[in-house]
Amino acid sequence: MTADGSQPQPQDKPRRDPRVVSEAMRRVRGRDTSPEVTFRKALWAKGLRYRLHSSKLPGKPDIVLPGARLAVFVDGDFWHGNQWQARGYESLEKQFEGAPSRSYWVPKILGNMERDRRRTAGLVQQGWRVLRFWESQLAADLDACVDITVQAAMSQDRVPVAPGLPERTFAEFFAGIGLVRLALERHGWEARFANDNDPQKHEMYSAYFQEDPEGHYRTESIRKLGPDDVPTVTLATASFPCTDLSLAGARNGLKGEQSGALLQLFEIIEGMGDRKPPIILLENVPGFLTSHKGEDFHLALRTLNELGYAVDTFMLDAAWFVPQSRLRMFVVGVRDVPRAEAEVGDPHVLESAVRPRKLVDRIHLETDLRWRVMSFPTPLRQSVSLASILEDLPSDSDWWWSRERTEYLLNQMSERHRQVAEQMIRSPRYKYGTVFRRIRHGRSMAELRADGIAGCLRTPRGGSSRQILLKAGRGRCEARFLTPRECARLQGVPDDYPVDVPMNQAFFGFGDAVCVPAVEWIAEHYLNVVVSQLIRGSVLTRQPAI
Ligand SMILES: C[S@@+](CC[C@H](N)C(=O)[O-])C[C@H]1O[C@@H](n2cnc3c(N)ncnc32)[C@H](O)[C@@H]1O
Repeated sequence: MTADGSQPQPQDKPRRDPRVVSEAMRRVRGRDTSPEVTFRKALWAKGLRYRLHSSKLPGKPDIVLPGARLAVFVDGDFWHGNQWQARGYESLEKQFEGAPSRSYWVPKILGNMERDRRRTAGLVQQGWRVLRFWESQLAADLDACVDITVQAAMSQDRVPVAPGLPERTFAEFFAGIGLVRLALERHGWEARFANDNDPQKHEMYSAYFQEDPEGHYRTESIRKLGPDDVPTVTLATASFPCTDLSLAGARNGLKGEQSGALLQLFEIIEGMGDRKPPIILLENVPGFLTSHKGEDFHLALRTLNELGYAVDTFMLDAAWFVPQSRLRMFVVGVRDVPRAEAEVGDPHVLESAVRPRKLVDRIHLETDLRWRVMSFPTPLRQSVSLASILEDLPSDSDWWWSRERTEYLLNQMSERHRQVAEQMIRSPRYKYGTVFRRIRHGRSMAELRADGIAGCLRTPRGGSSRQILLKAGRGRCEARFLTPRECARLQGVPDDYPVDVPMNQAFFGFGDAVCVPAVEWIAEHYLNVVVSQLIRGSVLTRQPAI
């Protein structure tokens, strides 16, 4: 809030000189704002006695109750990164769209958000309990904010609503070769626990993360784990097996041996009681939405509701970040305090690239679920070409197929695909396409994709074929399988990730994994924003490790 009580409105004044705007904003009052003063008076009236703006503590809390070891902050929505949500923008970036001062304010506010989290963590580490409120929370429901503060001051052992916060720690279920970890670590998250039952995936994970053999990765079935095996963390991630959900599979859904492992995760979460992670992230194939006429999706989300999480869902395609077509569904559960008037039934979701019509329809249809749908920006498609991720293999490399084998592949194409291949061959420059073999009407057919992106990586199981690269131009045509390094790059994995394992092991590892930049997008534009929201309005305290 500004000194005169009005909110800064950067988007409404796009033509002002950025230096003038910056100087004006710098002079905006950050303390003793009128909502804060009203709040303090209300606390005083309830008999609480406090100190103001203690400079001895990290972040100079606005209100300090030393006896209760309670530090309270009142955060202006503009400065601390909540105004875009309060005003219904899609993202912080959108709030400043068109404003000449955008390049100043967006990093500035993101920096403030990170500093809030760090300082809160510092206080919690020192044994303080911390409460943070948005100014808009005080304005909307002063009585509720006063009640929370009075209760926190009176009851020292009050159970926090957001365990594991303000840290950004996570437990990675179905961890595979660790690509969720790779993405989250780049955005300030710290892995505390991982589980997967495949020792070969663990071997690849350990080779990259240099994890010691007694590290946090448990190589056994999730069915053998209980709540006490899982540390207190902020986030649990689960890119759970798709075998029973994908259109290519048996479609046993959550009743299936593989995909049904998700239900075991839910049991573990339930058993964690008050230690339940405040955030859960699920990932799977789009078939999750339709499996068993939508019953599996509904069951998963309803169970999350019953465990105390409000839910959200969206889709991201790896092709927005890397040259691979890989559409995936994500579900986020955020632990909330269920209230009768919670957002049941009508979350007003708009169609967008991350929430296509079929998903929006489902959200609107599933009126018995408790939703918490959050806006976040749609990624802009990167112009990374298939050619740019290819290894430069010499023409005499064993990887390239013989002329006869390549000719056989061309002959397996339909008339239409063969014509596209012939066009590529006639081109004066080399062009690249990818090919999958599929059984169509009892015949093995070669399906060519020549739009500059690879098809979705798969695991070489159940008769699934490996992806073939077609290089054609200048009257010639060559073919070979994609290499493990190329598969890694298609998942956005950096080249220092070792791939010197048996080839099938690498293909399984990368084919099953998540696309790193897609999960990075979620970390930056969704999870970190949720953390910033969750450190407001609930008592944060130091947690036992387990
Ligand atoms: C979709 S993959 C997840 C890959 C992972 N996100 C990555 O980036 O490598 C599903 C994983 O679940 C593992 N899995 C399947 N059944 C399991 C079970 N019962 N317990 C633990 N892990 C299991 C598989 O080994 C596989 O790595």
